[in-house]
Amino acid sequence: MPALVLLGAQWGDEGKGKATDLLGGSVDYVVRYQGGNNAGHTVVVGDQKYALHLLPSGILSPGCTPVIGNGVVVDPSVLLSELSGLNERGVDTSKLLISGNAHIITPYNVTVDKVTERFLGKRKIGTTGRGIGPTYADKINRVGIRVQDLYDESILTQKVEAALDVKNQILTKLYNRRAIAVDQVVEELLVYADKLAPYVADTVLVLNQALENDKVVLFEGGQGTLLDIDHGTYPFVTSSNPTAGGACTGAGVGPTKISRVIGILKAYTTRVGAGPFPTELFDEDGEALRRIGGEKGVTTGRDRRCGWFDAVIARYATRVNGLTDFFLTKLDVLTGWEQIPVCVAYEIDGKRVEELPYSQTDFHHAKPVYEMLPGWSEDISKAKSFSDLPKNAQDYAKALEEMSGAPISAIGVGPGRNETIEINSFI
Ligand code: IMP
Repeated sequence: MPALVLLGAQWGDEGKGKATDLLGGSVDYVVRYQGGNNAGHTVVVGDQKYALHLLPSGILSPGCTPVIGNGVVVDPSVLLSELSGLNERGVDTSKLLISGNAHIITPYNVTVDKVTERFLGKRKIGTTGRGIGPTYADKINRVGIRVQDLYDESILTQKVEAALDVKNQILTKLYNRRAIAVDQVVEELLVYADKLAPYVADTVLVLNQALENDKVVLFEGGQGTLLDIDHGTYPFVTSSNPTAGGACTGAGVGPTKISRVIGILKAYTTRVGAGPFPTELFDEDGEALRRIGGEKGVTTGRDRRCGWFDAVIARYATRVNGLTDFFLTKLDVLTGWEQIPVCVAYEIDGKRVEELPYSQTDFHHAKPVYEMLPGWSEDISKAKSFSDLPKNAQDYAKALEEMSGAPISAIGVGPGRNETIEINSFI
């Protein structure tokens, strides 16, 4: 039975919510394996629009068990308010499972994220300010707080003490801020213990048993390949591994269990925050993509930087993730351009380069080499099959597929649940 990984093939915001939601109806478990409430999925069901930050999109599919894996960082206050927001709209959230090993984003992690960014000045990463990086830093430094710690007050107190020991020195002496009191943090965290208790589980055991029992499990990556801490445009990245290997570590499932890895690929490119972006547009085309594509961050409300499709990045995503399929999203946004430029290679210091350079310096100097593809003007949002698309839209998708190195198995032609062309079934 399939264990599918679904992840962003670019810099995130490729429209994963729509893809996971589409599959959610036929899968038994939808699992988040990394990141936290820095992610943002918009899912449209009928005339209802849902913005999810921390919860797996499968929460909207009855019959599906949503899972927050051990690799995720959880801000309990955000989680609880997301849950109650859904409950108020009649969504049943009782099946949610949260790993006891997931780390908690504490209030001091959020403070440190914001203070650090301010301190970095113009070298800042442009984080979402949600405490993601500092929480993962605590995890790696072995001073993190895990969900299970909420159920042992003495351990929790010791761990908060250990975490604040150095942090308070830094906050007071370096950043000129007030120290954070251990008791206050412990008190605040303990309030969440009872509220989260019904959801806390050994998710590694649950998921492996589910796979042994032939259940369909979907692993949903947050952010995207180029924001991966190891394989992205470091240091302008997030602090976890959205790439396919992250699903194994972040959920406790061995690589031999993964049967398919689907990359979500936007028909053009966007990025939020700082960092290199070779095909970025600063003209009216960039403005038009932003406006037509509704390119505003779901989590932060920031305008996304927009540019043409970059096949070098897509090929890289195929390689580092071992992609078996692409889900091409937002093809409808490109309707109306007479010609659509697609970046097929880079020019770096006068040389043509076909693959993503490993050197940060080279990547900063990369200039896109464009090929022009003919556009289309017909409304494609009602297309139900590939052959319903105008010839130029078909050719655009085929060209992207060829350049990117994996078959396109689905195409998004509008934001709604039904506005998707399925070419090959994922399950
Ligand atoms: P952090 O994840 O908040 O630490 O932010 C690090 C970088 O990742 C910043 O450039 C963010 O804008 C970016 N980022 C984080 N989450 C997302 C996402 O879900 N979509 C797109 N960019 C993201």
